[in-house]
Amino acid sequence: MDQNQLKLAVANAAVDYSLTRIDQRSVIGIGTGSTANFFIDAIAAHRHKFAGTVASSSASEERLKALDIPVLELNSVAEITVYVDGADEINPQLQLIKGGGAALTREKIVAAVAREFVCIADQSKWVEHLGAFPLPVEVIPMARSYVARELLKLGGDPVWRDGVVTDNGNVIIDVHGLLPIAADGSLERAINQITGVVTNGLFALKPASLVLLGTDSGIQTHHC
Ligand code: 5RP
Repeated sequence: MDQNQLKLAVANAAVDYSLTRIDQRSVIGIGTGSTANFFIDAIAAHRHKFAGTVASSSASEERLKALDIPVLELNSVAEITVYVDGADEINPQLQLIKGGGAALTREKIVAAVAREFVCIADQSKWVEHLGAFPLPVEVIPMARSYVARELLKLGGDPVWRDGVVTDNGNVIIDVHGLLPIAADGSLERAINQITGVVTNGLFALKPASLVLLGTDSGIQTHHC
């Protein structure tokens, strides 16, 4: 199977799983990216089985609305039953690097509210140690150079993602050279302490609850 077929298979598996968790009052958190898009397309056939969705990006919101799937404001929602999203890297502790699509801050907010975070990915995202994929950091624009200097002090090699503006009006710095990232959450905390950082794409302190991984030999299920 090629990568897109694996993404489709895992998105379908996530729909089957979500249907076992939701009822008519449930709100589903929706991620961002190509794997999340397969999930959006597949959940559309079941749009009458839940109350609505919260989107982690404007792009996902548009796709949901085009398929007549209700999109709710997070501030009007008390709980998200299940949040389904992709990742750029996943380790065996189900910690993630996210933000390749620049939606990391809203993704982290939706993950914080969700009762369960189901991460869906093809097998290429599974790694022993996080950090080969450059870690995205969302930064207030005027703090860009200062934050880059502070990231250098933490041992990273910061690269401004030129031309990219997030849904929140901020910029992204991708931090290279961090492999291996320790699994203790210290780097996630340290980067978030830098003034001017909105958040970073490391999901180490609150990993995924469940990972569905599309592989050549079928869907693998990894629990926390
Ligand atoms: C967006 C993300 C995506 O989940 C991540 O980049 C994976 O994307 P894809 O499913 O296209 O491989 O974190 O900010």
